[in-house]
Amino acid sequence: MAKLNTTYMGIELANPLIVGACSLTSNLDTIKRLEDSGAGAVVIKSLFEEQIQLKNYLMHEELHRYDDWHAEMTSIFPNLEDGGPEEHLAWVRRAREAVKIPVIASLNAVNREAWVEYAKLLEGEKVDGLELNFFATPTDFGKPAADIENEEISILKDVRKVVKIPISVKLSPFYTNPLNFVKRLDETGVAGFVLFNRFFDPSLDIEAEKSDFPFNLSNPNDHRLALRYVGLLSGNVRGSLCASHGIHAPAHAIEVLLAGADAFQVVSTLYRNSVGTIKVFQDEIKAWMDRKGYASLADFRGKLDAKHNPDKFTYRRAQYVRILMRPESFLARPKII
Ligand SMILES: Cc1cc2nc3c(=O)[nH]c(=O)nc-3n(C[C@H](O)[C@H](O)[C@H](O)COP(=O)(O)O)c2cc1C
Repeated sequence: MAKLNTTYMGIELANPLIVGACSLTSNLDTIKRLEDSGAGAVVIKSLFEEQIQLKNYLMHEELHRYDDWHAEMTSIFPNLEDGGPEEHLAWVRRAREAVKIPVIASLNAVNREAWVEYAKLLEGEKVDGLELNFFATPTDFGKPAADIENEEISILKDVRKVVKIPISVKLSPFYTNPLNFVKRLDETGVAGFVLFNRFFDPSLDIEAEKSDFPFNLSNPNDHRLALRYVGLLSGNVRGSLCASHGIHAPAHAIEVLLAGADAFQVVSTLYRNSVGTIKVFQDEIKAWMDRKGYASLADFRGKLDAKHNPDKFTYRRAQYVRILMRPESFLARPKII
């Protein structure tokens, strides 16, 4: 019977399916169900620096409401613990204690000091690894791309100085040359790359003419962006590669493994289908491996990456090449009325 064990960020996983950071990992019952269903590891919902800043701000407001009151009436003051990351840390601790599978904490900070301080605090909760969520939407028109990249690399170096557990970085796809940036991150000795994160994109309600906040999940086949970059990076970096975004079916998972991924993360498919889908992934990947005669993931991982795929255009401008080489594919175009 095919074996699914893999190594990701230097951590041994029973199988390559990792449940990505999301609300499913912020509930003890669900986290246990994820383990029971066969998840190889889980990433805890991120600690966001803004979340703490907001709480601090609210607490500050609250404290000022009582400025004129008698100083001894301390019991009316809000619980000071609500002002810091303690609530999140306590949650990470409970999650760590609740399951045996590897637990990875996730952090998304803004200021350098916060990245370093919170990373250290999360490590203190005995998690197996730390995922730095570098996804930020630029808002400063004057900041060149190189400054953003240099700052992120320098933050990563600072975090690595104080944190001993393996660190991965979860990136957005919006770097001009993700290959160059990943290579530079790799030179810092980072243990893994999660390619890619996705944020909830904005939406506007055209009837009410106001902002709308739909719960938008990824769609099947969105995994192809990750497939491209995993395929191009495979064999070129020391850090592990974890494909993420749009992996909705076992076949998508097999694709990213063939392209060179060491592991893959799923979120949307668990919301759309159920936590039980995790078992379907395992069963179907194993069945495919048995059918193909592969005993372990190592037998086929990277078999179709950019270096080994006989079709050299796969990870490049494949669609254009196909159109140029096979003009009959134009016939499939929709009618323009
Ligand atoms: C409800 C929800 C909450 C999420 N929370 C986080 C988070 O806290 N930190 C993070 O890095 N990504 C978060 N994500 C992004 C997911 O971890 C994942 O990168 C993204 O959904 C793409 O994977 P998918 O296509 O399998 O959904 C969240 C996604 C969803 C749907």
